[in-house]
Amino acid sequence: MTMEQTQRPVLKVAPESGEVLFDVKDLQVYFPIHEGFFKSMVATGKRFVKAVDHVSFQVKKGEILALVGESGCGKTTTGRALLRLEDATGGEILYKGQPVNKYSGKELRDYRRKAQIIFQDPYNSINPKQTIFDIVAEPLEVNNVCSSEREKEERVITAISEAGLRPATEYLYRYPHELSGGQRQRVCIAGATVLDPDVIVADEPVASLDVSIRNDILKLMVEEKEKLGVTYIFITHDLSLAWVISDRIAVMYLGRIVEIGDTEEVVANPQHPYTKALISVIPVPDPLAKREHVILKGETPNPKDIPSGCRFHPRCPEAIDACKEIDPEDVHIGGDHYAACIRIK
Ligand SMILES: Nc1ncnc2c1ncn2[C@@H]1O[C@H](COP(=O)(O)OP(=O)(O)O)[C@@H](O)[C@H]1O
Ligand SMILES: [Mg+2]
Repeated sequence: MTMEQTQRPVLKVAPESGEVLFDVKDLQVYFPIHEGFFKSMVATGKRFVKAVDHVSFQVKKGEILALVGESGCGKTTTGRALLRLEDATGGEILYKGQPVNKYSGKELRDYRRKAQIIFQDPYNSINPKQTIFDIVAEPLEVNNVCSSEREKEERVITAISEAGLRPATEYLYRYPHELSGGQRQRVCIAGATVLDPDVIVADEPVASLDVSIRNDILKLMVEEKEKLGVTYIFITHDLSLAWVISDRIAVMYLGRIVEIGDTEEVVANPQHPYTKALISVIPVPDPLAKREHVILKGETPNPKDIPSGCRFHPRCPEAIDACKEIDPEDVHIGGDHYAACIRIK
């Protein structure tokens, strides 16, 4: 057994093609801050929460790309912008070469069918008064995709069964409260896959689940990815989860991607001090032989007030004076590995 197998036993299967599904260029999502009347009188210019602040990356067809970073760094907003659930205030998102922000009417409806989202808390994202059948059938009805009741039933049963609730017929007329947290998340996954999507943004999909069932859900996602050819954007604050499941990792800090690359490569050879800190506390058998825990000082700063220069400098154990001035550009490390730090040589 190779080192890789012993250390990442579960899930990774690399994407088959290098085809680009999303090409995100310089994406910005700013939210206006609604300040009190007097403050707005004296303030010069409007202020914004820069939730996503000049972010560029690609998502390849058939891969699982993890977006990783502390709470508030802009992961959810990035995912929502990809799905057009949030409007970009700048930059561009190309989906199969087409600008997502220009979609309207039928194009937008088609796109919404092809691009689904799964949330952290399956309890809040499904209607407790609906049966499992109705929950999973709803996207089909809303999108009017079935030509007969029979087709609808078949698709619902297939989706539920593929999501690991078997035999599906035993679940159809049950209610969410009769299921466990893991089973409810399977229902949500069935609700997302029933439309045969190209891409699923999974936003902290296992964060609210018991540790013992997390792996089952992660395995299910990989299975579905393989079987249905779904591309995943897997959002998590937990780098160890990203490491287990993803093909590539994008590390976000305060609205920016500070490092991106092949998962194996980023974990074994992190370049950005923030990535190094996240990796140093991965609670799994050590992927890096010798390592010290890097404890970051200070709280995550607020995206209303982004520090000058490198936005990570106030917390960075490796910062030098120039880091207060220079907003670093991406440095090419090799392959598709990039990191934004001026200290990389
Ligand atoms: N609709 C909104 N209006 C104002 N601020 C928002 C909105 N959505 C998110 N934010 C802010 O944007 C930042 C990034 O949020 P989010 O994308 O949810 O981060 P994450 O998912 O990484 O925790 C946070 O400071 C959050 O408070
Ligand atoms: Mg979030």
